[in-house]
Amino acid sequence: MLRRLHPDQPESFAFTDANLAWAEGQISKYPEGRQASAVIPLLWRAQEQEGWLSRPAIETVAEMLGLAYIRVLEVATFYFMFQLQPVGSIAHVQICGTTTCMICGAEDLMAVCKDKIAPKAHMVSADGKFSWEEVECLGSCANAPMAQIGKDYYEDLTAEKLTQILDKLAAGEVPAPGPQNGRFASEPLGGPVVLTDHVEGRMDQNASVELALAIGDTVKRIDGTEVPLRTPWRDRSHEKGDAEPDLHTPQLSEGAPADETGIDKREAPVENATKVENPAEGDKG
Ligand code: FES
Repeated sequence: MLRRLHPDQPESFAFTDANLAWAEGQISKYPEGRQASAVIPLLWRAQEQEGWLSRPAIETVAEMLGLAYIRVLEVATFYFMFQLQPVGSIAHVQICGTTTCMICGAEDLMAVCKDKIAPKAHMVSADGKFSWEEVECLGSCANAPMAQIGKDYYEDLTAEKLTQILDKLAAGEVPAPGPQNGRFASEPLGGPVVLTDHVEGRMDQNASVELALAIGDTVKRIDGTEVPLRTPWRDRSHEKGDAEPDLHTPQLSEGAPADETGIDKREAPVENATKVENPAEGDKG
C-alpha cells in the first residue's frame, strides 16, 4: 500500500497549549543536538489532537525539532500507526486481516465495515463518525478474529457482534472490550480443562478488560487532561547555587492520592534516571 499525504490538506496546524507544553517536555528529555529523538511522540500527539497527520502537522513537528521536512515525512509514512488521512470522529476501526483472523472470519468483519462505515478502507463514513482499515497481526491470535477500536481490543468477534459494537459506539456508548463470546481470556470455549482451581472467585472479566473499563478511555483521544508529563530536570534552580533537584524520588503532586509508600499512583515512574542525569549515556548504540 502506498502511503502518501492526503490530497486535501488544512491550511495550518498548531498544538493546543496543553499539547505544546507536553511536546516541549518531551523534547527536553534529549540532549542538545538529539531533539530528533522526540519525533515519534510529537507526531503521535499531533495525531491524537487532530485524529490524523496533515502536512502542516508534519512540518510543525519538523520545525520544532530542527529537522528537514523530509525526515519527519519519512517517519510518518513508514509507520502504519500514523494515519495520513482524516479518520472517523468517534473511532477508527482496525480489523486484523492476518492468517489466524482471516481463517476465523476477518473477511466477515470487513464486510460489516464496508456495509456500515464505508466501501473502502480509509474512507470516512457518511456521518463522519467512523473509518476503518485492515491491519497486520495485532498479537491477539488466540482470540481471532479481532479488531482494535481506539485503544482497546475487541476479540472473538462475529459479524453480528461487530455490528452491535459499532451501533453502541455510534450511540455514544463504549462497549466492553475483550472476548465477545463469553470467554474469560483465551481458554477453551467450553471453559478451562486444567488449572480449574483458579476459576472460582475470579473477576467477571479478565484484568485487562477490568482496567480498560475502569479507565474508560477506549475511544477518547489524548487531549492534555491526562496525568501531566513530569520534567523535574527542567528545574534549573540548582544552577543558581540551590540544592540540586532530586530526580530519583517520585514526588507527590498537590492533592494527589498516595498509598502507604507515599508514591502517587497516578504518576508514571520517574523517567530513566541515567538518561536524565547524563542523557548521552542512554543514547549509545
Ligand atoms: S492474526 Fe489476528 S491478531 Fe494475530
